[in-house]
Amino acid sequence: MCGIVGYVGRAEAAQILLEGLRRLEYRGYDSAGVAVVDGGNLETRKCAGRIVALARLTKKRPLSGCFGISHTRWATHGKVTDENAHPHFDASGKLALVHNGVIENYQLLKEDLVRNGDTKFRSETDTEVLAHLIGKLYDESCASTVDVYQKKARLLGAVRAALQKVIGTYGIALVHANVPDFMIGARRGSPLVLGVGKGENFLASDVSAIVAYTRDAVYLNDFDVVSVERDKFEIASLGGESGDHPVSKVEFTAEDIKKGDFRHYMLKEIFEQPDTVRDAMRGRLSVEECTAKLGGLNMTPAQLRDVGRIILTGCGTALHAGRIGEYLIERLANIPTEVEYASEFRHRNTPMTPETLVFAISQSGETADTLGALRESRRKGFRTLGICNNVASTIARESDGGVYMHAGPEIGVAATKSFTSQLVILTLIGLLFGRMRNLSTAEGSRIIEALEALPEQIEEVLKLSDQIKAIAKKYADVNGVLFFGRQFNFPIALEGALKMKEITYLFAEGHPSAELKHGIIALVRPDLPSVFIVPDDAVFSKNLNNIEQVKARKGPIISLTSGNGAKQLKEIANEIISLPDAPDCVMPILTVIPLQLLAYHLAVELGRDIDKPRNLAKSVTVE
Ligand code: AGP
Ligand code: GLU
Repeated sequence: MCGIVGYVGRAEAAQILLEGLRRLEYRGYDSAGVAVVDGGNLETRKCAGRIVALARLTKKRPLSGCFGISHTRWATHGKVTDENAHPHFDASGKLALVHNGVIENYQLLKEDLVRNGDTKFRSETDTEVLAHLIGKLYDESCASTVDVYQKKARLLGAVRAALQKVIGTYGIALVHANVPDFMIGARRGSPLVLGVGKGENFLASDVSAIVAYTRDAVYLNDFDVVSVERDKFEIASLGGESGDHPVSKVEFTAEDIKKGDFRHYMLKEIFEQPDTVRDAMRGRLSVEECTAKLGGLNMTPAQLRDVGRIILTGCGTALHAGRIGEYLIERLANIPTEVEYASEFRHRNTPMTPETLVFAISQSGETADTLGALRESRRKGFRTLGICNNVASTIARESDGGVYMHAGPEIGVAATKSFTSQLVILTLIGLLFGRMRNLSTAEGSRIIEALEALPEQIEEVLKLSDQIKAIAKKYADVNGVLFFGRQFNFPIALEGALKMKEITYLFAEGHPSAELKHGIIALVRPDLPSVFIVPDDAVFSKNLNNIEQVKARKGPIISLTSGNGAKQLKEIANEIISLPDAPDCVMPILTVIPLQLLAYHLAVELGRDIDKPRNLAKSVTVE
């Protein structure tokens, strides 16, 4: 949530900052703002609404200057208004600050400031309180005239002193009108990366904002404070210790984050799945030993064999992947597996045995709840591994090992390709643990063959896009959608409903098919279609009974099936989408794709903002 970009260099900052914000808009899009310093003058433009509104504003009233900061907001404290848009200022109006996170003790800090005579607050945000606090500490330390070197040191000192008082989370960037070509960044709980250029340096919430200018990045750690100038930077912890901060090469290029010929990022990402699924298993299959090779887990064969219980944790789509992971790991490896909402897991007393292994699943690797769960689990001494897409993200760095998705940047707020990559990885984990136990070589080979067949099968599924578009047109005026599936496809019903809610704003629910008769059937009516995910598997005939129950009550039925399923559904379902066949544990990787497409086409039909659905943000870095 919230995107931050900062720049110090020789070029005009405003254009670079705006371009960076466009790349980060997926992180939040309630309001946006930019502040640039030129010859001791701090100029700001900010407004509620999208980056286009800010771009219009800066076109009308251009900004000039070679250093500045910018922000795209996902509001946590204070309404979506021009005043609450970042940057926020100190009492003097000379210090500008952008912030990602929540200052939990902002009320107390504010009361203190007010008691000391500072009453010039212009917004309702927690962020503004921090700006005032830093400004006050800086002004006090600069009471006598000081030279520019001292000013830099004192501004840094003021930031450190203020952050010592903060309870909560922050990724911040700030500039001061009287301290030229100088920017300070700091992080605790919210991501911040330093982009190292030639004669210019950047700060950003994620590298996609700066990859067009530099691919050299330093990922900051919690409690790091960085001072940034054109030709140098210095990083030290809040306590003042300097640590190890290697410069890494960003894996992708600016080209990879373009939409290409696709109308929306979401559609592009859906269509990338043959490749991303291939990349998730590349080099990780051992045909000879009928198993998976996952060196990143950092576990010896003996340690793998000793795992007695697995916990999969995450949020939203990642959690749904975990639910399929539970079925997969229990089926293939017979290890008791639990799925826990990260937000619940970290606060409750989940029974853990010494041989418990925890996986935190997260596309962004920055989700606050998942990070909290990971930290809690590590604090208790459990081996905790990450399944992440963003290389060098906080979860990836703080875990004891893990598996990268290698899906490339996912920009659409609705997760698609990351989900199928997570499923591939969880299948590999099930296979690996299974082959360390009782899974036969024949079964292992069958899974490997099924995985290897997936990219081509996904190509086949994607060819159904036009059929699904026609279905979406036909059902565009429905009042909601129900999703049903059994076994491996029950979590797919949950994921189908989540995609539908997120981008069409229609009411949608997912359930195990058999739960229908325990209450949900009361909802069935002609303007509420039920999507049944019913591949031709061992539970097909049971699913058929449930479909009949809906049909008998005049509920329209959209079915997803495989093999001989279509024949049996011909007289019952209103719509039949036929998919290639795969073993039941691999089938979800195919069945989810038509549901991504259904939500997408229906949302287009309803004129929704596909890549930036209302109230949402891609990377949820607040609790
Ligand atoms: C998915 O479409 C959602 N936008 C959301 O549920 C997401 O999956 C969740 O916030 C977790 O994100 P993460 O994978 O980056 O941790
Ligand atoms: N708390 C700040 C605000 O409401 C920043 C929010 C965020 O990081 O999403 O403006």
